[in-house]
Amino acid sequence: MAISIKTPDEIEKMRVAGRLAAEVLEMIEPYVKPGVTTGELDRICHDYITNTQHAISACLGYHGFPKSVCISINEVVCHGIPSDDKKLKEGDIVNIDVTVIKDEWHGDTSKMFIVGKPTILGERLCKVTQDSLYLALRMVKPGIRLRTIGKEIQKFVESHDFSVVREYCGHGIGKGFHEAPQVLHYDADDSGVVLQVGMTFTIEPMVNSGDYRIRQMNDGWTVKTKDRSLSAQYEHTIVVTETGCEILTLRKDDTIERVLTAA
Ligand code: CO
Repeated sequence: MAISIKTPDEIEKMRVAGRLAAEVLEMIEPYVKPGVTTGELDRICHDYITNTQHAISACLGYHGFPKSVCISINEVVCHGIPSDDKKLKEGDIVNIDVTVIKDEWHGDTSKMFIVGKPTILGERLCKVTQDSLYLALRMVKPGIRLRTIGKEIQKFVESHDFSVVREYCGHGIGKGFHEAPQVLHYDADDSGVVLQVGMTFTIEPMVNSGDYRIRQMNDGWTVKTKDRSLSAQYEHTIVVTETGCEILTLRKDDTIERVLTAA
């Protein structure tokens, strides 16, 4: 499938969708505390997206996904289904993944929350994962091969003795939730994709504290690390510009200054 180049008007619409997705993560932060259930967090996000933002959750009903956001705790790599039975506890690391649709355009972003007092490993894994996203974002510019970026993410993650999940990747995004290209976070054949101004895609490395292999649970969604080690993920939606990239899903706690100066 060809990679679409977005027009300035289309990029403006993606800016709006990206900002809304980021604002959901800002809004939910104070609610992420010991004792809250992931079902409750999902309801708060759903109401905010629907009633305050007048937008649509892209996840709700996507291939039958039953909730509005994905919430993945500790050894859950991705696609955790929010539930009233799942209570957060002190030291958990939690990914909330939000995709909103506004005026037909998508914004997709996720971040880690540490519940209460962090564990040393949990905090270190989250930091390395976020730094791997930052280093990838700093590499984006017209003319660079996507593969080069994946290779650097892998090198960085493995230098910290963590591993990169292979089965899931970033993706082109626009009117479609998942468009071409696939954005791999490790060194593998990418069919030679070279970045051009106006391409829009996500970068979203999933990093495990142990082995990179994963296991799909019987609910058809939840993905866990095979060895039950911890897993973390951060995601931004970006557009390639003349000089690098513009991040469409920046937050107050995740400014461009941070992206540019982190390890
Ligand atoms: Co995504």
